[in-house]
Amino acid sequence: MAGQLDPQPDTGAPRGSAQAVKRLGILTSGGDCSGLNAAIRAVVCRAIEGYGWRVFGIKQGTQGLMRRPVDYQELDLGLVNSNMLRLGGTILGTTNKGDPFAFPMPDGSLLDRSEELIEGYRELKLDALIGIGGDGSFAILRRLALQGGINLVGIPKTIDNDVGATENSVGYQSAVEVATEALDRLQPTAASHDRVMILEVMGRDAGHIALTVGIAGGADVILIPEIAYSIESVARHIDKVRRRGRNFALVVVAEAVKDTLGQGVRRRHGMGAETYGGIGHLLGVELARMTGAETRVTVLGHVQRGGEPNASDRLIASTFGVHAVDLVAAGKFDRMVAWQNRRVVDVPLAEAIAMPQRVDPGGTLVHTARGLDISFGDDG
Ligand code: F6P
Repeated sequence: MAGQLDPQPDTGAPRGSAQAVKRLGILTSGGDCSGLNAAIRAVVCRAIEGYGWRVFGIKQGTQGLMRRPVDYQELDLGLVNSNMLRLGGTILGTTNKGDPFAFPMPDGSLLDRSEELIEGYRELKLDALIGIGGDGSFAILRRLALQGGINLVGIPKTIDNDVGATENSVGYQSAVEVATEALDRLQPTAASHDRVMILEVMGRDAGHIALTVGIAGGADVILIPEIAYSIESVARHIDKVRRRGRNFALVVVAEAVKDTLGQGVRRRHGMGAETYGGIGHLLGVELARMTGAETRVTVLGHVQRGGEPNASDRLIASTFGVHAVDLVAAGKFDRMVAWQNRRVVDVPLAEAIAMPQRVDPGGTLVHTARGLDISFGDDG
């Protein structure tokens, strides 16, 4: 249930009060995105100016709490100038690897290092912790909080915009802007060369970026993980567009799409890491073969995560930061700040984790796209 600093439901998580909190920890966890520094800035400003607390930035996500000595930096108002609002990345560093409950050790084994981390929180004598993360990070942080009595408040961030119970997460709007600009730049060159341009965008298991960018950028085809596609259907739609006299077509594909046989594409990186990525090139080859059109592929990748946050992300990050500190002051823990119906609210972290936000195939945006004769590769 969403609340506006309403009484805290009994979740079994620890409680506190403004008087009890003097030392606030903050960390960024999971993949970075634009707007993280704007959120950190807001937290530091509110905590110091509003409540007179000290704020400790933990380095590299939860890993800073595992290191000895604990890896942290005290954040003061001098550091938190207005440049922080614009700065991409995270001054604290982050990681999307190394689950502390199954931490990969050099010999290949997995070790539960959760107690070390909780010990690190205690060593810093923290009274509460604000974690800026996505649903994966929140699941880990919440488990740690319950195990170690950590007073936790979450701020949602992710370009994928798939955190449950919030309409917006920090980073999403900036990623959409970057990808829309890319499509705007691809259209004229597609038209000049009679080409089918394929733009592969990020989105681990969620197609929000692809769907939004495809509509905003005038795509002919949008492929998202929530709707299985067939290559035959995509080729038919491109043939149709060309038969009607258009000399180019634009395809936006989310990296995590699967065809009707459940096949997707994953890429292995150095040191064994595996991510989505590469579907654009596969589509490029297949669509050239099936339609006879010349195809070119652009994979946007991490460009969507870097750079200055746009105005929307600066606003959301600032709002979330202030509200998160106010929650700590009110002793409301085990909650996540959220954006719902044009205002900031807070919801139980468990709710946000339990209900990831995927594209609704029956929702407004899919309906709008179909109304614009955009194909999802499903003959729908
Ligand atoms: O979750 C954010 C995200 O950018 C996904 O869209 C993408 O699949 C993944 O992270 C990439 O992770 P990495 O930074 O490890 O390549």
